[in-house]
Formats: sequence, C-alpha cells, structure tokens
Amino acid sequence: MTGKFLDIAATPGVRAAQAANGSRDLSERSGDDQQPDRLTGAEAAFIEARDSFYMATVSETGWPYIQHRGGPAGFLKVLDETTLGFADFRGNRQYISLGNIAANDRVALILMDYPNRRRLKILAHMEARALSADADLAARLTLPGYRAMPERALVLHLEAFDWNCPQHITPRFTREEIQAAIAPLQSRIAALEAENQALRAQAGGQEAVLS
Ligand SMILES: Cc1cc2nc3c(=O)[nH]c(=O)nc-3n(C[C@H](O)[C@H](O)[C@H](O)COP(=O)(O)O)c2cc1C
Repeated sequence: MTGKFLDIAATPGVRAAQAANGSRDLSERSGDDQQPDRLTGAEAAFIEARDSFYMATVSETGWPYIQHRGGPAGFLKVLDETTLGFADFRGNRQYISLGNIAANDRVALILMDYPNRRRLKILAHMEARALSADADLAARLTLPGYRAMPERALVLHLEAFDWNCPQHITPRFTREEIQAAIAPLQSRIAALEAENQALRAQAGGQEAVLS
C-alpha cells in the first residue's frame, strides 16, 4: 500500500480498528505523504490491458454507489502519470455516477486481472468534460468502431493507488483467452480425427479384400 493510499484510507475510525486489531504498524506508516501517487509503467500497462473496472462514487446522502464500466481492452487511458480518462457511454440514462461527482468528485476504482489474479485499487477526483471542448482529449478517448455512443469525457486526477494481494481471486478467462488456450487442442483433435478416419478407411478396405 502506498503511503498516500493509507493516508486517505486510514481515517480515525480505521486507525482505531487497526489498533484494536493489532495493526498499529499500518497506521504508523501513514501521515506524511501529501503528494498524489504517480503511476509507473507497471500500473499503466495493467490499466491499459483492462476491459472493465468497478467504480464507486459517493451520493449526497452519503451512500456509496458502484457501477461497472466496460469496453474494449485499454478503454481506460493513462493520460499521464497522475491522470486517467475514459469516454462515458450513453446508457441507462440514470446518470447516477455523473450526478454524484457533481457534489463529491471522489471516486474509487477496482481493476481486476482474473487470469493473473491481480487487482489494483485507485482513489481519484473525477471531472466530466464535454468531448466537444477538447479535441485532443476526445481523440485519445474515442474508440473507433466501438458500438457505444460517448456522451462526455470522464477525467480522473489520481490521488493514490494500491496493489492488492491475490488471495481469493478465482482465475476467470474471457472467451478470447479461452479460445487462444484451446486452439492447439482443437487443431490436435482435428488432426487425430482425420488420422482416425484415414485408418478406418484403410481398415475397411483391408476387410473388403479379406472377405
Ligand atoms: C445498450 C447499452 C449499452 C451500454 N454499453 C456500455 C458500455 O459498453 N460500457 C459502459 O461502461 N457502459 C455501458 N452502458 C452504460 C451503463 O449501463 C450505464 O448507463 C453507465 O455506466 C452509467 O451508469 P450510472 O448512471 O449508474 O452511473 C450501456 C448501457 C446501455 C443501455
């Protein structure tokens, strides 16, 4: 956990819970890290390989709200080492995340890599920008050929990130990943079927000669 992440997460209540449960070393590590975290190449590569993430916002009534966001791998772009962005697609017309950030711009993301059992948490401030107002941003976030209609840009100003441990992440695979893994088996089965057919034809021919 980065110092900044812990700094944000370790509220007085959290610190009390840590102390009560013998995690005092965790709260002692926090406190002096005021600069936002900066993404390294490892985080950038991880983020740009994802085809979905879960994003929490906070409602004006204090409720956490989580929405799933999805698109082609890499739709969440690393714009620089403290800025992320993605196109907000037209959808269910509820605008809950958008409405929430108008009052409180804090968001929490969790990005999952199920096959490799890795996950990354991100804390950021998120702003909505009109795509028409920033042609360069629009070009970076727009996904040519993707069926969804982008309504605006959502830009995240990173505060902190945290890599989690792999425990309890069940490996899951996309259709494409499964297809790549079974392709050699399918070829092998096809070759064996062809060989089997040829052998049967050969054996059938020999039986006909003998009878
Ligand atoms: C037909 C349809 C397609 C959608 N496609 C996507 C999509 O590809 N990616 C995505 O993140 N949201 C997509 N959404 C949008 C989400 O359902 C939702 O509207 C959006 O994430 C905003 O949710 P919120 O109001 O809960 O914040 C789609 C919605 C509909 C109805």
